[in-house]
Amino acid sequence: MQLEWAQEGKMWLGLVLMLLLCPSLEGQENSFTINHIYMEILPGQEVQNGENLTLQCIVDISTTSHIKPQHWVLFYKDDVLFHNVSSMETTESYFIPQARVYDAGTYKCTVILNNKEKTTSEYQVWVKGVSDPRVTLDKREAIEGGVVMVNCSVPEEKPPIHFTIEKLKLHANGFKQKREKKKSSYNQNFVMLEFSVEEQDHVIYFQCQATIFSENHMEYSRAIKSELVTVTESFSNPKFHVSPEGVITEGDQLHIRCTIQVTHLVQAFPEIIIQKDKAIVAYKSHGNEASYSVMAMVEHNGNYTCKVEASRISKVSSIVVNITGELLSCSVVQLYEMGENDSTQPRCPFHCLSAPVDEVKLSILLNEDVESGKAVVLRCSVNEASGPITFRFYREKETSPFYQITLNDTQAIWHKAKASKEHEGQYYCTASNRGNRVKNSPQSNILTVRVFLAPWIKGLIAVFAIGVIIAILVLGARCYFLKKAKAKQTPVEMSRPAAPLLNSSNEKMLSDPNTEANRHYGYNEDVGNHAMKPINENKDQEPQATRN
Ligand SMILES: *[C@@H]1O[C@H](CO)[C@@H](O)[C@H](O)[C@H]1NC(C)=O
Ligand SMILES: *[C@@H]1O[C@H](CO)[C@@H](O)[C@H](O)[C@H]1NC(C)=O
Ligand SMILES: *[C@@H]1O[C@H](CO)[C@@H](O)[C@H](O)[C@H]1NC(C)=O
Ligand SMILES: *[C@@H]1O[C@H](CO)[C@@H](O)[C@H](O)[C@H]1NC(C)=O
Ligand SMILES: *[C@@H]1O[C@H](CO)[C@@H](O)[C@H](O)[C@H]1NC(C)=O
Ligand SMILES: *[C@@H]1O[C@H](CO)[C@@H](O)[C@H](O)[C@H]1NC(C)=O
Ligand SMILES: *[C@@H]1O[C@H](CO)[C@@H](O)[C@H](O)[C@H]1NC(C)=O
Repeated sequence: MQLEWAQEGKMWLGLVLMLLLCPSLEGQENSFTINHIYMEILPGQEVQNGENLTLQCIVDISTTSHIKPQHWVLFYKDDVLFHNVSSMETTESYFIPQARVYDAGTYKCTVILNNKEKTTSEYQVWVKGVSDPRVTLDKREAIEGGVVMVNCSVPEEKPPIHFTIEKLKLHANGFKQKREKKKSSYNQNFVMLEFSVEEQDHVIYFQCQATIFSENHMEYSRAIKSELVTVTESFSNPKFHVSPEGVITEGDQLHIRCTIQVTHLVQAFPEIIIQKDKAIVAYKSHGNEASYSVMAMVEHNGNYTCKVEASRISKVSSIVVNITGELLSCSVVQLYEMGENDSTQPRCPFHCLSAPVDEVKLSILLNEDVESGKAVVLRCSVNEASGPITFRFYREKETSPFYQITLNDTQAIWHKAKASKEHEGQYYCTASNRGNRVKNSPQSNILTVRVFLAPWIKGLIAVFAIGVIIAILVLGARCYFLKKAKAKQTPVEMSRPAAPLLNSSNEKMLSDPNTEANRHYGYNEDVGNHAMKPINENKDQEPQATRN
């Protein structure tokens, strides 16, 4: 019991002593010095994105005091204070779970002890890589010509972030066809991009990569794939159907069709166009088929293209059509024909079966003399040659035909409904089929066509001429009587022969229109003679009047 009391007493004494001594300790002004301050960065100054990062500030302080002095430790990133702590420990730590690109930078720490301060050197921290982006799509099934909206985000990172999104095809036989788009986001950590779905996109997916500029260089994320999108065709590839099948010979009815299949999902039918080289030979804007039909000729040989076009989608296929018209192949065929097997006889270019045009005849239907205003009809005909035959109608002295037609017929007609004087002239025609080379296509006889004026037009001209003559006579007579009246008033001037002058000019005017008309139109009918009569009478009377 006594011992206990003794121990308690000692403790109290110690406490009292401490209390008494403490102010004197302060008064003694313990000395402090900061020996050293440095940072330790764990696991290192270069960390992978997502790794835990620990920043340690280690302070080495010497003191005369028995206890560790209280001091402040301040952490800076890029000269900006981000953490401060009051401590008595030698080591203070700042923990960054899952470091991101924005955690990279220049770090330092400062220790403050009473009025003394010491700062570490600067420590560069690198964060390698960018965290994985997330790629989301607005749909999993798309139609050709439609669009897919792609959202690529990096929630863990801070903007500005640059995104690269690619559209890729699945299993494209090693043939990598991709469409790439880039977009930067300055105030959010995601971008939305629209991609159109093209033809031949059967199964597609998207891939996104994020890039961030950090510490003077670029940091890249992994490229992350989206889910797959299955694409439905809006319409099938165009398909050609050519008839007849197999060998096509001249004269056959060539029929080229281009068809497509359209899904029920499309709102509007695409346009179907059949082209031969650059020329459009057929098209259809609403429907699933376009067709071109023509009598086969060697000229129709070539590469036919069928294009099907919707707003964004265009599908093309092509076919080479080969029409046989060679004489060489014909001779082979003819050998076959001589054999016994008629049923398996190959087909032959039919112009070879009956040979080329050798006799051409041009004739005029109705009459060679055509009345002006009536029809002129020319017929160019050939002997028993078979079609297609190209007929060409020429006017003599002109090198190019004024009319040309190809027919599966032995004759061709050219006609002009209302002939006029300009259609007068000499005509001929030529005809040729595949058996003829164009250069020596036989020429027809030359035919002269004359166009004469209708009788009523002649009459009209005569009546007009007479009218003119009568008018002149009336004027002349009037002139004469006026002069005569004047002469009576002034007899001195009577000897002046004004009338004979008038007379001679009258004579000229009277005879000319008729002879002109006669020469020009070559007519000599009663109408003309009747018209002459009163003129002659006048002519006879006038000199008499003058003499009086
Ligand atoms: C990172 O820190 C977290 C705590 O914030 C811990 O759960 C995790 O295990 C740490 N990871 C590693 C790899 O140490
Ligand atoms: C440390 O932080 C406290 C508040 O937490 C603040 O009052 C003090 O001024 C800071 N010290 C420095 C040196 O900034
Ligand atoms: C894109 O996706 C992210 C999440 O991954 C989301 O936060 C953001 O709102 C989305 N953007 C749009 C426009 O939907
Ligand atoms: C036919 O034309 C198409 C389109 O111009 C072309 O792609 C194709 O190669 C051509 N085919 C032949 C056999 O020339
Ligand atoms: C067409 O056929 C003939 C004979 O079969 C051949 O000689 C020629 O080369 C072919 N032409 C084309 C364009 O295919
Ligand atoms: C002749 O015709 C028969 C039946 O029509 C056929 O079986 C045979 O192959 C043909 N022969 C020739 C050489 O084409
Ligand atoms: C051309 O005429 C021949 C015989 O007159 C006939 O067999 C053939 O079918 C005709 N072709 C066309 C395209 O009219």
